[in-house]
Amino acid sequence: MDMSDRIGEFVFFDYEPGEADMASEVIEGLSGQPKQISPKYFYDQRGSELFEAITELEEYYVTRTELGLFETHLDEVATLLGDDLCVVEYGSGSSLKIRKLLEAVTPDAYVPIDISQEHLKANAERLYEDYPWLRVYPVCADFSQPLVLPAITNGLRKVGFFPGSSIGNFEPAAARRFLANVHTELGSGSALLIGVDRKKPVEILTDAYNDTKGVTAEFNLNVLLHLNDRLRATFDVQQFDHDARYNENEGCIQMFLRSRTDQVVEVNGQEVRFDADEELHTENSYKFHPEEFRAIASEAGFKQTRQWSDAKDWFALFLLEAI
Ligand code: AVI
Repeated sequence: MDMSDRIGEFVFFDYEPGEADMASEVIEGLSGQPKQISPKYFYDQRGSELFEAITELEEYYVTRTELGLFETHLDEVATLLGDDLCVVEYGSGSSLKIRKLLEAVTPDAYVPIDISQEHLKANAERLYEDYPWLRVYPVCADFSQPLVLPAITNGLRKVGFFPGSSIGNFEPAAARRFLANVHTELGSGSALLIGVDRKKPVEILTDAYNDTKGVTAEFNLNVLLHLNDRLRATFDVQQFDHDARYNENEGCIQMFLRSRTDQVVEVNGQEVRFDADEELHTENSYKFHPEEFRAIASEAGFKQTRQWSDAKDWFALFLLEAI
């Protein structure tokens, strides 16, 4: 179809996601043994910029490899999906990937879901400007919780989109819950296009999270600056070291910040004590054998339509169908 025949539309849906109580969540994580913090706190303005820089690093093969799979297989994805589609993107992230998908699939409607209202609105407006034939319905919501898609999308077949192996940053039980929610939200007969990072030789993984330019270290340490900003914390980033290593048992890269000395830090008016060499666990990034991921997806009610991997078998793109 000639896209100039289509008339777009822009409607913003604010589900008013409640802000998690950051202070109590962070203090609880810092009071536990081992100390931990949710990776969601990486993504303030600076953290998002640093993540963008990570995606361009030589060692961080993830983004490049997934984009290569898009390049080679999106036409086939489009053929398999057919017409009358509504693309639902969980998270409003790298606009390059969604642009490639929208251009290949040319859906009727696009629903990006993100908790950050500002970020969501800006990205969605830019896409609407560039694709005037598209109906754009951004939903401001926390997609880790169940939600109902706007009724305006009824009648269109849903295609969920969750690239970048972001599924790997969920703990296994949360990943299962998330996929089950997605199944309910998109409905039987819908599709899900999801990027998954595969298990591979450990040194490839450890290099990807310990780049020589130190960008990942800066990204990891930035979480402390975010806490200083938001929770009147007193972290000195010079007093912590970045570490990332592969946990063979869990099948994930784990990132930590290791205290260089015995120190006491204030967070939201409360004292938090670190011993020398004590670690703060900041992120897990799970890696999957294709059959492991298929099993998780199947428990959530999805069956595989196709799976594509790159020549090195480092990354997999799954097209799933909700049954
Ligand atoms: C966003 N997420 C999939 C990245 C990952 O690889 O787990 C976050 C990241 N952490 C360190 N480098 C990149």
